[in-house]
Amino acid sequence: MAGKSKTVYVCSECGCESPKWMGRCSECGAWNTMVEDVRIPKSAAVPQTKPAHSFSARPLSSINADDEHRFVTGISELDRVLGGGIVKGSVVLLSGDPGIGKSTILLQVCGALQNGLDILYVSGEESPVQIKLRAKRIGLESERVSIMSETDVQTVCEYIASAKPDLVIVDSIQTMQHSDISSSPGSIVQVRESTNLLLRTGKSLDIPVILVGHVNKGGDIAGPKVLEHIVDTVLYFEGERNQSYRILRAIKNRFGSTNEIGVFEMGEAGLTEVENPSAMMLSGRMSDVSGGCITCVIEGTRPILAEVQGLVAATGFGNARRTATGFDYNRLNLLLAVLEKRLGLYYSNLDTYLNIVGGIRIDEPAADLAVALSLVSGLRDIPLPDDLVAFGEIGLSGELRSVPRAQARITEAARMGFKQCVLPFACLKQITSCPDTIKLIGVRRLSEAVSLIR
Ligand code: TYD
Ligand code: MG
Repeated sequence: MAGKSKTVYVCSECGCESPKWMGRCSECGAWNTMVEDVRIPKSAAVPQTKPAHSFSARPLSSINADDEHRFVTGISELDRVLGGGIVKGSVVLLSGDPGIGKSTILLQVCGALQNGLDILYVSGEESPVQIKLRAKRIGLESERVSIMSETDVQTVCEYIASAKPDLVIVDSIQTMQHSDISSSPGSIVQVRESTNLLLRTGKSLDIPVILVGHVNKGGDIAGPKVLEHIVDTVLYFEGERNQSYRILRAIKNRFGSTNEIGVFEMGEAGLTEVENPSAMMLSGRMSDVSGGCITCVIEGTRPILAEVQGLVAATGFGNARRTATGFDYNRLNLLLAVLEKRLGLYYSNLDTYLNIVGGIRIDEPAADLAVALSLVSGLRDIPLPDDLVAFGEIGLSGELRSVPRAQARITEAARMGFKQCVLPFACLKQITSCPDTIKLIGVRRLSEAVSLIR
């Protein structure tokens, strides 16, 4: 018998519940995050098909993990981010700004899964004709991809249970709705319940499910934050809309590392993999301009060259402006303080703008040296040599500290044709084989590195 439904308020940040609306969540302190949610009593909710389980615990050693099964998509940039392919029975959430290419990449996954798998593509956003047109554009011709235009999550799950495809793609989770719940599609409760139902269906049949999730204005995944906790893997597709390249990043991954990134380029026929991201990051670089410095960062397991640009200009108002794009703002302030205090270079009445070209974000301290050099080059208006790469962490006393994987960074710089590399002196002992084409300049202090700008 169905009982009375009840209204509660749920915080979209932390999932905390309250019987009354509050301006500020009492759990996490976030403002204006309480959203109305209608609770259906258990008896009225969907009857769950419970897997018959035996209530027993097993010794860890007796569990066989060799049969972890992955579907290798054949798109190597995606496989790398996923940790080697899509794990059977896992739930992957793919999110990103509208128009970034989420639907495109998933349709390409359908085409790339070569070992003849049956794929169900559920779309609540586009009609089958629209999907067909996109598939034509990216050259997808497959007998084994079925398109389902449906928004009712129970219908979708029933279909999955009867057709038993090898992979299910749901585009997007915000369009799915559960008919037992009165709130509108996209609301916190609809998103959560739809995810839960798809998750249970997928896990019980060992079918991987990929969900597309929209992001809200703040860049968070729309819907409850708890969604990120439920799923196994959260991927984020990012990039500048007006530029063609896109970066795929894992924010959470139960089956692999979260450090890996995949780089793609959007073209006429869908997304193509970028096998040489360094070349992409350095394309369009101008020579002989002050404030530019190339660094080498490690993204996951790969070294990637990136250009740091610093612009230092006279301030128009009393307060100097400082901005950092792609780099931590507080780290920029710290490096400016080190330059002032240890080297006597004053930026206090100058506007300082820092930008990492190519839309990537650098969080590694190894970029410190390149940032400092670009700021000094910008201040003095003297360009750095075009063939110079710099990396190294800067300490508060103005000393240069060793960073990991110096060998890989140097090899990448040499491969891309750079001839000089400024690095912490302490890193020199890590180097086992240095290509002849690149000269290593080991420095102990920032002042030694800065003296190269003359
Ligand atoms: P889409 O995958 O629909 O984005 P999302 O699902 O994340 O909202 O991508 C749409 C954008 O990609 C659209 O602006 C057109 C562009 N695009 C191309 O440039 N080339 C292509 O081959 C395709 C299919 C899309
Ligand atoms: Mg889409």
